[in-house]
Amino acid sequence: MSSTSPKPQSILVVHGPNLNLLGTREPAVYGSQTLDDHIATVTAAAKEYGATVHAVQSNAEHEIVELVQSASGRFDAIIINPGALTHYSWSLHDALRSFKGPIVEVHLSNPSAREEFRHTSVVSPLAKGTISGFGGLGYALAVHALFA
Ligand code: DQA
Repeated sequence: MSSTSPKPQSILVVHGPNLNLLGTREPAVYGSQTLDDHIATVTAAAKEYGATVHAVQSNAEHEIVELVQSASGRFDAIIINPGALTHYSWSLHDALRSFKGPIVEVHLSNPSAREEFRHTSVVSPLAKGTISGFGGLGYALAVHALFA
């Protein structure tokens, strides 16, 4: 797949609730890497393309909504792992609708292979694509997808 759209120079990386606990949270499901490890992965991948990363994690839905609201014009692309907000947050969905740029959704686990409530994503319809089930590799793949 190739694209003629302008290449993103600044990427906002958003993490939702409970992802601050990566490393100790259910390592059998989410792996042993910490959030800082994943930010390092995404930052290194972006650097290969000369792009910069601004990374934010919040456990508060309203903070993520406000962050996404303010992202247009400040960031060219969003990589987001919304955590459980993925499955029900229509306020996040609506905020992402107003973002002017590509969005890539990332999940460490494969939600489709897990409990029923994880099978719905209100973010996927707004994403250029979704990368699930590849652990931390998904963050590097998300960056490569933005530049493909
Ligand atoms: C997750 C999957 C979600 O279902 C879950 O609520 C998370 C993490 C993932 O990265 O696999 O918090 O987004």
